[in-house]
Amino acid sequence: MNPDTPLTLLGGLTPAQFMKTHWQRKPLLVRQAIPGFRPPLSVAAVKKMSRRDDVESRLVWQEQGQWHMQRGPFARLPSPAKPDWTVLVQSVDIHDDSAAALMNQFRFIPDARLDDLMISVATDGGGVGPHFDSYDVFLLQAHGRRRWRFGQQKRLDLIEGLALKILRNFEPEQEFDLEPGDMLYLPPQCAHDGIALGDCMTISIGFRVPDTASLARGMLEAAADQVTARAGGVSGPYGEPPLPGPTLNGLYKDPGQPATAHPAQIPDRLAAAALQSVARIRFDEALATRFLGCWLTEPNQLAVFDHGDAQAADDEEHALPTHWVLDRRTRMLYRGTQLFINGEVAPVRAEPGLRALADARELAADGTAARKLSQDATDALAEWVDAGWIHAIRRQSV
Ligand code: SIN
Ligand code: CO
Repeated sequence: MNPDTPLTLLGGLTPAQFMKTHWQRKPLLVRQAIPGFRPPLSVAAVKKMSRRDDVESRLVWQEQGQWHMQRGPFARLPSPAKPDWTVLVQSVDIHDDSAAALMNQFRFIPDARLDDLMISVATDGGGVGPHFDSYDVFLLQAHGRRRWRFGQQKRLDLIEGLALKILRNFEPEQEFDLEPGDMLYLPPQCAHDGIALGDCMTISIGFRVPDTASLARGMLEAAADQVTARAGGVSGPYGEPPLPGPTLNGLYKDPGQPATAHPAQIPDRLAAAALQSVARIRFDEALATRFLGCWLTEPNQLAVFDHGDAQAADDEEHALPTHWVLDRRTRMLYRGTQLFINGEVAPVRAEPGLRALADARELAADGTAARKLSQDATDALAEWVDAGWIHAIRRQSV
């Protein structure tokens, strides 16, 4: 996607302009972001998904002014004639190709930040109450109408003791009724409340926000894996190759340790040795990339891949792939020469063809990038096709 091409999706702004002026900063209302929008799933299909135990869902309703929340799966939902309830289905993108395709329209934002596509279905008056999210969100009206009220208030304290995050004081500054195809972007911490005006379906594209503690813990764990890997001499706990770095397999030595009258006291020299060992670990870009690549490509825990079937393998000799397509559940990221797929370090470097595949989520076999793929890359692709991570689209040879 060219960041300088104006998009109807962004009300005529280019992705570059949107990122500069709105992203993480201020709301944007786009009327007819997707003209003639047809939702990827029907209301009935969303409700049906909420019955599945491999799908994350929540039911939120209000009764006599009280908020209630229950987690799915739901054998039965409240009657469509009953007002004031909403069912929310999380990560629809991993369960449905057209939902994944819709989410891909937002890939002017790095995949590392994209989280999931959620769909809510509500009856008149339904909603999740006035709240704020800690991440950016695009709220796309899919069916029926919803009234959004929002504002960037400073006070964000919540009502205590509820299963839901509900703002104690909600001070909306703006109000809009959204029709199908309209979209509202809200930055993190923007207070908002969306109330269904009759039957309504809303699609939210949400983002992941790593917190500083998780980043620090992840780096420390990745460093610990490197130490284990080098001490073991082969590979890390998950089979990943160690990064270049110091060998930490020496033994502590203390010639000259004086006799002690306080045997229970930890020697200064041992404390210093512990500090020196850790100071030898390289907290560098390669380590950060290794940690982020494995962590950010970890598939959603509800993602189940369909392994390449035997018939496809038999057909392989008679059919040539025309292109490769990443499965909707596959996460593939790269940085420099490091390449990651579904939580693993790829057994091949991030050569141009594989970077093109990760960026476009597909690769034409007759393109320049594909023709220059190394043997290692071709072998890796075959392995990933087998695992169901990638699909080789074939045509019969003549
Ligand atoms: C909804 O779809 O009802 C809730 C979305 C949100 O407020 O983030
Ligand atoms: Co929200």
